[in-house]
Amino acid sequence: MWIPAAVLLLVGLARSESPPDATLERFLNETSQQLAVIYDQAVLAQLLNELRGPNDLVALLEIEVTDDKLMKYVRTLTTRKAKFKRLGLGDARQRRLLDKIPQLGYEALSGRDLKLVYALASSMSDNYHNVKLCAYKQPGNCTLRLIPEVQSIVQGSRDLEEIEYYWFEWRSRTGLATRSQFVDFMDLYKKTAQLNGYPRAEDYWFRSLELAGREAMTLLDRIMHGLRPLFLQFHAHVRGSLRKMHGEHLVPRNRPYPQHLAEVFIGNAFRRVQAEWYVDLPSPEIGLANITQELHRRGLSTTQRVFWNVAEYFRALGFPQLENSLWTYAQKVSSDDDDRCWHKAWRYYALPRTNFTYCPLNDEERFFNMFEAQSDLQYYRAAAVQPTLLQEEPFPNFSDAIGKCFSMAASSPRFLRKLGILRENKWKELPARLNRLYIQGLRVVFLLPVFYVLDRYRVEVLAGHIKADDNEAYWRFTEHYTGAAAPTKRTNEQFDVPAKLLMEVDDQYASNFLSIVLQFQLLKHFCTKTGQFEMGNPRKPLDLCDLSDQRGIGEVLKQAMSLGSSVHYREVLKVLLGEPEISVDGLLAYFQPLHDWLQHQNQENNLEVGWT
Ligand SMILES: *[C@@H]1O[C@H](CO)[C@@H](O)[C@H](O)[C@H]1NC(C)=O
Ligand SMILES: *[C@@H]1O[C@H](CO)[C@@H](O)[C@H](O)[C@H]1NC(C)=O
Ligand SMILES: *[C@@H]1O[C@H](CO)[C@@H](O)[C@H](O)[C@H]1NC(C)=O
Ligand SMILES: *[C@@H]1O[C@H](CO)[C@@H](O)[C@H](O)[C@H]1NC(C)=O
Ligand SMILES: *[C@@H]1O[C@H](CO)[C@@H](O)[C@H](O)[C@H]1NC(C)=O
Repeated sequence: MWIPAAVLLLVGLARSESPPDATLERFLNETSQQLAVIYDQAVLAQLLNELRGPNDLVALLEIEVTDDKLMKYVRTLTTRKAKFKRLGLGDARQRRLLDKIPQLGYEALSGRDLKLVYALASSMSDNYHNVKLCAYKQPGNCTLRLIPEVQSIVQGSRDLEEIEYYWFEWRSRTGLATRSQFVDFMDLYKKTAQLNGYPRAEDYWFRSLELAGREAMTLLDRIMHGLRPLFLQFHAHVRGSLRKMHGEHLVPRNRPYPQHLAEVFIGNAFRRVQAEWYVDLPSPEIGLANITQELHRRGLSTTQRVFWNVAEYFRALGFPQLENSLWTYAQKVSSDDDDRCWHKAWRYYALPRTNFTYCPLNDEERFFNMFEAQSDLQYYRAAAVQPTLLQEEPFPNFSDAIGKCFSMAASSPRFLRKLGILRENKWKELPARLNRLYIQGLRVVFLLPVFYVLDRYRVEVLAGHIKADDNEAYWRFTEHYTGAAAPTKRTNEQFDVPAKLLMEVDDQYASNFLSIVLQFQLLKHFCTKTGQFEMGNPRKPLDLCDLSDQRGIGEVLKQAMSLGSSVHYREVLKVLLGEPEISVDGLLAYFQPLHDWLQHQNQENNLEVGWT
């Protein structure tokens, strides 16, 4: 068809430079204000829940009421939003705001499907959290939950049959038992994607990253590929340790290691077990520093002191000073459950304030957590310059990457020495550093492939490449990427996917995955910029980098934080890092000394790398 050039020109103009629209502005303005009020009610409900504990019915009811209110309001927006989008009105900023109005999500489904999707999701989640297993060889004792009972039995057990028993029991009760629910759920998820305007469900899966499905998978694949050489060396080494512990008949050469044994081994890195537990710690004679003990010796034994010490840390980076009232009004959360007791910053949207809640435990975890919570606090305050619709982080877990970059820099032996915590020189020398890298590596290098497989599997299902309950495909991915196999061959008679989904069935792991990779990339960037890290210089390794008092970096952080989600995460990364994409280079640089050591050890001990 022939189109006059003048028309093309006009269309071109309309696309790139259409003027702001007054009606649209009024709509956005009103929406922002209304959402802010509802969001604040939701924040207050969450805060109540945090303070009163997870079983407080008043708080739970309040959360439900505000969720409902938000959904009702979003429903009223949807038609008008669609109309503005169809007309293509407004300038770039207005179109961004329009895009950031919350989507209907499942609420776009018809009444019957909607009921079903919620019922399926909550049934699978309840099943995961409430399933009770019978104790090993005690058929009458059937009250064990996965967390904490089974977990702690398995972590402490050296009885292989017991560990295996729980592995199989758990999978039959949470996996196979929910097979048909999982299949139905994935169907409804595809329908939901369609109704929200995503013809390809895998694009909907990654919507919070603002990446198309294929783009997101390419990014994740590139990171997995970069990680592979380090992963293979580490895997070979851990397999060697497992063989020492359990014998060659259970951990044969050139095969993936048994998942149930590897999970116990790697899982222990997330708890504070004694150094002696690890059969192959790089420098057993040195062990691991007991930072909790040192904090107390140094007098950093009240949360108030830690709070102000860390506040000073951020002020010295160039962030604004925190006001006294923040601590005066800070409230204590219950310390009954270590895993739920954390420091936390709270932001509001209509109210001009932030709050802080703290965990009264004074140990290593809570100390480093203070850096993360105050980093979030600074983030919330910087992003408050944006309208409500653009105040969120660029993708979920983005702010965690910044917080964790600082808690990692704060755990560097150089900074801890400066604080008077690790006074002995040995902590800065290679043997002790290797121990620290080894434990950190167990937490990071083995977790990324597990996250990857969980997303990859569900994305393949959504894209229609595999059936929703293709257990054999799941194990092919698991073996290839995590190097772990089931204790006995699993077939499509079983179904093991839901047994691994710690979060909800529709929670995407990619943002978690990217956040972990990004925290090392940020550390490498800031340490390079401040002259503390030099690639290949053994006197300036990344794991010794201390960012305290680096006044230059606060400014660029504030600038990036204040963008909120007004632009794509790549634009935020350009400000933060000078490059637009997440890459695994920082992580590899951080673990390079460990990588060298692993390679040497594997060669020396004739440990085979990889599997067939
Ligand atoms: C709404 O109105 C206020 C005051 O007139 C203005 O400052 C704000 O930028 C407007 N826009 C949005 C999207 O909130
Ligand atoms: C049930 O088994 C667990 C784990 O072995 C044990 O700790 C608990 O005491 C047992 N309870 C009863 C009532 O026997
Ligand atoms: C570290 O020290 C604390 C306090 O002295 C102690 O309770 C804890 O058991 C020690 N932890 C380890 C892993 O040795
Ligand atoms: C939050 O901070 C305000 C002052 O900024 C204070 O009045 C209020 O009590 C605090 N609320 C909580 C729950 O900490
Ligand atoms: C990402 O966010 C979730 C939910 O807040 C949290 O449980 C998880 O630990 C975060 N991941 C990282 C890497 O911080």
